[in-house]
Amino acid sequence: MSDTDGLGAMLEGLYPYRGTYASHARVPAGPLDRAAVLDEITRMAKDEDAQGDRGTVSGSLYSGDHEHYAFLGEVFSVFSHANVLQRDMYPSATKFEGEIIAMTSNLLHGTGIGVVTSGGSESLITALYAYREQAVAERGVTRPNVVLPITAHVALHKGAHWMGIEIRRAPLTDDYTADVDAMADMIDDQTVALVGSAGDYGHGLIDPIERIAALAQERGIGMHVDGCLGGWLLPWVERLGYDIPLWDFRVPGVTSISADTHKYGYALKGSSVLLYRDAELRRRQYFTSPDWPGGLYLSPGFAGSRSNGILASTWAAMLVTGESGYLAAAEKIMRTARAIRDGIRAIPELEVIGDPTFLVAFKAAADLDIYLVNDSLVAQGWRMNSLQLPPALHFCVTRPNTADGVAERFLGALRTAVDYAKLHRGEPAGTGAMYGFGGTPQGDATINMLMSTVLDAMHGLAPGAGAD
Ligand SMILES: Cc1ncc(COP(=O)(O)O)c(C=O)c1O
Repeated sequence: MSDTDGLGAMLEGLYPYRGTYASHARVPAGPLDRAAVLDEITRMAKDEDAQGDRGTVSGSLYSGDHEHYAFLGEVFSVFSHANVLQRDMYPSATKFEGEIIAMTSNLLHGTGIGVVTSGGSESLITALYAYREQAVAERGVTRPNVVLPITAHVALHKGAHWMGIEIRRAPLTDDYTADVDAMADMIDDQTVALVGSAGDYGHGLIDPIERIAALAQERGIGMHVDGCLGGWLLPWVERLGYDIPLWDFRVPGVTSISADTHKYGYALKGSSVLLYRDAELRRRQYFTSPDWPGGLYLSPGFAGSRSNGILASTWAAMLVTGESGYLAAAEKIMRTARAIRDGIRAIPELEVIGDPTFLVAFKAAADLDIYLVNDSLVAQGWRMNSLQLPPALHFCVTRPNTADGVAERFLGALRTAVDYAKLHRGEPAGTGAMYGFGGTPQGDATINMLMSTVLDAMHGLAPGAGAD
């Protein structure tokens, strides 16, 4: 298969409903029947949820409990129409938001100061913005940079790109966590903050937060911990007695933390918490305008109107899960992740990356293509996350994966997949088609162009649809 064929197939895959359901390129002339619309959406959801419900998907679905989702959906619907901006009409938003922040802060030993955002990316980008504003105001910084390990989440790159902040990427040490000495060498008088992860998206590992935070303190700058993924899980794992290094506000020098409620907080998609150690840094992200004809305007962050349904359902997710619910889920997740980690370690052709907790990343021995392994896993119904630099896969263990027998079935499928990769050695892997192009200016330009084509396609109608 040529690369163009691969792209064509990928684009085609974006439109599975072509020919199954009617396409709408314009508003229908008259109202459609509500029951029919709901039925169509429900059928799509049933099909699309099937794989996740089997427990064969890494990450993505954190709760997986459809009764929980239905309850949260019910809560959402009570306030879905209400705009958080209108606090005089909806003072409940202040209660929900304040208590979501308080509960998250309590979990992470914070000071109760924070904001609720739409997700991890917004939390990270907002933190970056606050540090840039702080550095400009307090130190006259004109060419801001941020120092982070190469594994820090790419949303930080996106934010830095949008805000004209230079990204300085530090390498990793042999254990795949941030090389703090290299980070120290990259700091200068224009550095606005340091970043570490707990755990990072790719490998799920916890950077040496205490060392990075000490370095930040020594240099008089802030430090953000990206706990988007681990923030709502690691505290429970620690309480269960697992050996988790300190990474939250108990570490002096940690000045902000992001923790996504829409991941292991088991809330609906669209919420994350960004916590600050002190109120002054939070104020750096506020926007207030006293002289606009539209009136006095005050806004805590990027969003304008927001649905109170998200706040209500996030708040409700915490209440109905409770400490015991979070602990029970964490225990099962860790037990499953340990079984998967140990099972992979027992496969000689594979190598587990670093010392994982809830997310197990693994690569293949030198002469084996991990993307061929993935091809076989995909064919067997599994959906892992593909990584690069180095080529690897990861299994981010969530509640649906903790069902009886899932870990054993996965390890069986993985052994079959390794045999497949050995048998097909040297053949191009379908699921890794794009990897390996990167790293050179021409390769990167080609991949950027292909990815932009995919984004264009994601925002359009299926080819031929709506031509009426
Ligand atoms: C460590 C980490 N940070 C940030 C993000 C971005 O979160 P979101 O997709 O909610 O924007 C993710 C997403 O998986 C993540 O794993």
